Amino acid sequence: MVNAYTEWSKNGKYDEDLNPTRYRGPVIATQALAEYFEKSERSSIRILDVAAGSGLLGQELAKFGFTNIDALDPSEGMLDEAVKRNVYTKFICQYFDNNSDIPCDSYDVLIISGGMGEGHIPGNSIEKMQEIVKEGGLVVIVMRKEYLTYVEDYKDLIPRMKQMEEDNKWKILSCKTVEGYSFNKQGLVFILKVLQSKC
Ligand SMILES: C[S@@+](CC[C@H](N)C(=O)[O-])C[C@H]1O[C@@H](n2cnc3c(N)ncnc32)[C@H](O)[C@@H]1O
Repeated sequence: MVNAYTEWSKNGKYDEDLNPTRYRGPVIATQALAEYFEKSERSSIRILDVAAGSGLLGQELAKFGFTNIDALDPSEGMLDEAVKRNVYTKFICQYFDNNSDIPCDSYDVLIISGGMGEGHIPGNSIEKMQEIVKEGGLVVIVMRKEYLTYVEDYKDLIPRMKQMEEDNKWKILSCKTVEGYSFNKQGLVFILKVLQSKC
């Protein structure tokens, strides 16, 4: 999978194929996040873009004034493209899962656009997402809605999120369906507010 992304990233092919007429994830994710932060505070919000890929989301975030962003992705080729955008502070070339070694309470926001898919970010890693975001911070996930029905690993994603809400780990601020997310498919936007520090 990672090799396929690295191959796809070459010569701007990924960006061309997933241009905003076909894939609106980065725009949707950025607009969702921008609702929670005033323009004046955006540059100081520490953000981790998980499955950052070639940096389409980082580029969009930067347009809205979010300029303190780290990029995580297991594909070196995709990250090489992300570097060229000059919008990220740090690059972490690794998979994200429930064993990721990112320290708890590291970020104000963890954001994902297009990183949830068959064989991509594991469903159980939402526990880790909650851990590495500071109390009061946000986890924003934008993904294709239909994956909840046929990607085995995501079938219990919403029940898991709700269980974490019951355990007082976070509050589900929003779980909204959006039209025209990717190739005219519906998307889902989750906004989760972290309530408990794991540190
Ligand atoms: C469809 S691309 C999305 C990239 C970018 N966020 C965007 O919106 O264009 C999916 C990305 O997920 C990355 N990925 C797959 N599995 C991952 C994992 N376990 N942890 C982090 N990234 C992963 C891939 O390397 C790829 O760059």
